[in-house]
Amino acid sequence: MDLNLLDKIISLSKRRGFVFASSEIYGGFASCYDYGPLGIELKNNLKSAWWQAIVYRKDNIVGLDASILMSPDVWRASGHLTAGFADPLVECKKCHHRFRKDYLKENKCPDCGGPLTKERKFNLMMKTFVGPVEDEATVTYLRAETCQGIYMNYKNIRESMRLKIPFGIAQIGKSFRNEITPRYFIFKMREFEQMEMQYFIKPGTNKKWFDYWQKERLNWYLNLGIKKDHLRFHQHNKKELAHYAQRAVDIEYKFPWGWDEIEGIHDRGGWDLSNHAKHSGQDLSYYDESTREKYIPQIIETSAGLDRIFLIFLLDSYYSIKGGRTQTTQAVKEEESVLKINPKLSPVKIAVLPLVKNKEKLVKIAKSIFDELKERWFCQYDEIGSIGRRYRRQDEIGTPYCLTVDFDTLKDKSVTIRYRDTMKQKRIKIEKLISYFQEKLY
Ligand code: GAP
Repeated sequence: MDLNLLDKIISLSKRRGFVFASSEIYGGFASCYDYGPLGIELKNNLKSAWWQAIVYRKDNIVGLDASILMSPDVWRASGHLTAGFADPLVECKKCHHRFRKDYLKENKCPDCGGPLTKERKFNLMMKTFVGPVEDEATVTYLRAETCQGIYMNYKNIRESMRLKIPFGIAQIGKSFRNEITPRYFIFKMREFEQMEMQYFIKPGTNKKWFDYWQKERLNWYLNLGIKKDHLRFHQHNKKELAHYAQRAVDIEYKFPWGWDEIEGIHDRGGWDLSNHAKHSGQDLSYYDESTREKYIPQIIETSAGLDRIFLIFLLDSYYSIKGGRTQTTQAVKEEESVLKINPKLSPVKIAVLPLVKNKEKLVKIAKSIFDELKERWFCQYDEIGSIGRRYRRQDEIGTPYCLTVDFDTLKDKSVTIRYRDTMKQKRIKIEKLISYFQEKLY
């Protein structure tokens, strides 16, 4: 892979409504991005695939949506306000550009060659004020990881849902970090989304559950179609471990710039609940009735970055074919691109296309099919341009099925279904369409 592929994905994202720079008419803003009409569909499909695997298919994992703003005491107890959650910052004495020291290859400014200041620790928490007065007493922080909201609700959920250890709590939501050097499009941003699950376990069973979740999470990517040789594990050494972790393994993807992290599996031990119990004065221990033991549960965490996952699914499924796959005269002149993404994740599931737009009878049938299908799936109706061009527009955004209403439809009440990946076509009766797609898309 090369960085050229990343450029192609950035261009596709903007051209076809997946991702735009935030506040673009003002020149963009601080590495923040907006998800467009197709981007939000892909994002929702990814969330739903994760939620199904983590919450619906497991008997002992439940969901949560906690608030982003929490008491600043949460962040004092979690260790995020101290050096543990800070990056090494240096500044160029000449041009005053700032850099993360550990990303620099040399001891000089990469922009102007000027000398650098001594390194200092820069805390990544985003500060804000709650209420109309801006002083130290009203300071709080935008959450830097969603899991803290889970710890705040651990007791409420355990009691209200009558859960017994082991059990898990899952949450999807925004997190914020004042990153010194955001980079690579949506890979490293200051506002991003996490899909986290905290698994509460009995002390001594850490290895068993860590190994279990490590395998589960890798399989999630493989089952959704990410190529096996584009994924690997990276075991953290002692120096790399976050302040809360006693063991950590990253799932890494082979990005155009090299291997990099998409998800972390962490053994957080008793760090979080012990610290929150100490700082809040509340009893967060668990009483096991069967063994009559009382203990602070240990936590195994799976923490995935939704934006990074979004990016890898685009990178992994993007194919560009010089000269085109189709042999029409127009197509052979062009570079054709196909997003061979798992249909479960495709933003648009079915495109309905009348062969020509000026034949009222074809348009009427196509629109009535579209009206019926859109009750169940996100579909697009398109009558603009040649049929080949319309197929290519759908290929580029990953639509798995194109359905064409042609002149034969008037006689045999059938339509042509064309498959994105093979371009093979099949005739199918209109009355069978719903059951056909139900089977294909669930
Ligand atoms: N609760 C644990 C935790 O937050 P982390 O390794 O700091 O662990 C987990 O983050 C995941 O969140 C990462 O693997 C990555 O996918 C995503 N992530 C972290 N910082 C990010 C950023 N600045 N932009 C986009 N995604 C980020």
